[in-house]
Amino acid sequence: RIAYVNGRYLPHADAAVHIEDRGYQFADGVYEVCEIRHGVIVDLTRHLDRLDRSLSLLRMKSPMSRAALTQVIREVARRNRVKNGLFYLQVTRGVARRDHVYPSADTPPSLVITAKITDPSVIAKKNETGLKAITLPDNRWDRVDIKTVGLLPNAMARQAAKEQGAQEAIYVDSRGMVTEGAATNVWIVDKDGLLITRPAEHGILRGITRTGLMDVTEKLGIRVEEREFSREEMLSAREVFITAATSICFPIVEIDGQSIGNGHPGAMAERIRSTFFDIAE
Ligand code: PDD
Repeated sequence: RIAYVNGRYLPHADAAVHIEDRGYQFADGVYEVCEIRHGVIVDLTRHLDRLDRSLSLLRMKSPMSRAALTQVIREVARRNRVKNGLFYLQVTRGVARRDHVYPSADTPPSLVITAKITDPSVIAKKNETGLKAITLPDNRWDRVDIKTVGLLPNAMARQAAKEQGAQEAIYVDSRGMVTEGAATNVWIVDKDGLLITRPAEHGILRGITRTGLMDVTEKLGIRVEEREFSREEMLSAREVFITAATSICFPIVEIDGQSIGNGHPGAMAERIRSTFFDIAE
């Protein structure tokens, strides 16, 4: 495998950044994960738009122009022979002597890009059987709308899920309302068949897959209600599914040991997923 690190393409095993990189010391960096399907980068423009937003909210410089960035992404995918998979892109505030205060504005940001092949049969199996989830109090900071590499709470949540035999942890805020998964957005289909997902104005990351599925539902004439829903409403929903670039649309069949709906993946998730790929392809 080959990784791009600050201007060079290196063997994955030798790819490294400096010990005083601010990403390493302060999680002072942002990232994107994006799907590559049949050689096409899915929703690249939206991912790069969100990257620009994250960078500007943290007053970080973009490491290069969008055209150059796109070229490097394609080159990393090509060198790793990724037809179906993911790329990972991380920008940090660069290398500087440890100090909480931002380094001078001329400090060059660090840029790392990697790509990996994913196995479609593993994803297909998850869609067929569905996943299990647990719920946890949302203990993250207030700016989860910025896609930063400060993911320790998310890592702890996923680990807790794993230790309980589940694959995702779903956060619930102090009012009992669902925010999002450790690395996914959450959707439910209520008893009347209405599709519901939380508004992205506050408390969640505005997922690119979430936005993509909004396009799909519009095409299919399916109404989406953007409103908050509680843990209880989620547990009694007809369907629950989660979305992210890594998982597009995985059904959740059990939460905190309770079956969701009839305990099997739902029809809505299936319909939306297949249409998403029809459009993406
Ligand atoms: N995570 N919410 C959180 C907290 C996330 O980390 C992610 C994605 C999403 C979904 O966003 P998108 O549809 O743009 O992938 C929502 C990536 C995949 C990750 O950390 O691996």
